[in-house]
Amino acid sequence: MIETKILSTTEENLKLAGNIIRDGGIVAFPTETVYGLGANGMNADSVKKIFVAKGRPSDNPLILHISDIEQLYDLAEEVTEECKKLIEAFWPGPLTVVVKAKKNIPVQTRGGLDTVGIRLPQNFVAQKIIENANVPIAAPSANLSGKPSPTKYNHVIDDMQGRIDAIVCGEDCKIGVESTVISVFDENITILRPGKISKKEIETVLGKMVALDRTLAGLESEISDFKPMSPGMKYRHYAPKAEMIVVAGVGQEVDKKIAALRLEYEKTGKKVGIMHFEYTDKNQAAHDLFDRLRQFDKEDVDIILATSIAGEGIGMAVMNRMVKAAGGKVVKV
Ligand code: TXA
Ligand code: MG
Repeated sequence: MIETKILSTTEENLKLAGNIIRDGGIVAFPTETVYGLGANGMNADSVKKIFVAKGRPSDNPLILHISDIEQLYDLAEEVTEECKKLIEAFWPGPLTVVVKAKKNIPVQTRGGLDTVGIRLPQNFVAQKIIENANVPIAAPSANLSGKPSPTKYNHVIDDMQGRIDAIVCGEDCKIGVESTVISVFDENITILRPGKISKKEIETVLGKMVALDRTLAGLESEISDFKPMSPGMKYRHYAPKAEMIVVAGVGQEVDKKIAALRLEYEKTGKKVGIMHFEYTDKNQAAHDLFDRLRQFDKEDVDIILATSIAGEGIGMAVMNRMVKAAGGKVVKV
């Protein structure tokens, strides 16, 4: 057990947080997307502490967070014209660009790849901490590996107290889902993870179509491409303890299906929780999603029945997280 300092966002504390990171420690802090768990991204030993605290597989690369666009040029082997256009349009903000990495970035940070993800967050507290640390900060989401990402400092305390040096307790995360990750190191510009910045917005800035990673197939417009109840999807992530099922469709049919499933499960003595986002504003759904998943765990719910939402804009990000939290269990009506 490590003694974890719980810090407010005073100027002094943001300096302390920066110092702890520069000196090799690990600190959780708010960003506009989710809370991050930061370490000196240029130091392999510091970065290793992140993997230990989270229980994260070492081949999953980290994102380097910077506080000034110029730092990108110190970290990237090459910055393409498309990359420049995107960061001009969306930085500071919830966009991570995957670029060719300079060799001085530790392999631990890159998860063994020769590329690296870089992001300039918009959140003031995050910016200040990066500035004070005076090093690029490697920061995954500050949850235990596999659990829903933290969007409130209480979520971070639940997962990380006793495992890390400090937690900076700021405001709730405005967006609530992680940054859009896009690879821009060659002509095959591809969205690897959907987020607040949508495919459409990116295409407008670039003036051309971009690809979606094949793991995202089916999320773009209709839920009609989803494979119902695909048992082969073993990969669970963003996952509550409860089992989760997404009911995909629109209108009354969804409500009917949820009511039927609820009855079925309750008959067998299971505690059922309902997550109804169908008529919710998509930004609000993104904002609430991870908090709701964590709430269900606190209430010891056994089965979560969730409605799908339309997969456009930030809706794609929400659906991506929901389907993963459900381990791919989607029922189409
Ligand atoms: O909004 C966010 O991006 C948050 C906040 C803290 O900034 N961070 C975050 O980090 O979500 P993490 O580690 O939980 O997720 C990073 C994602 C992973 O899916 C990882 O595989 C991918 O980005 N990634 C990072 N570097 C990559 C690379 N070089 N190539 C491909 N994917 C990469
Ligand atoms: Mg994460």
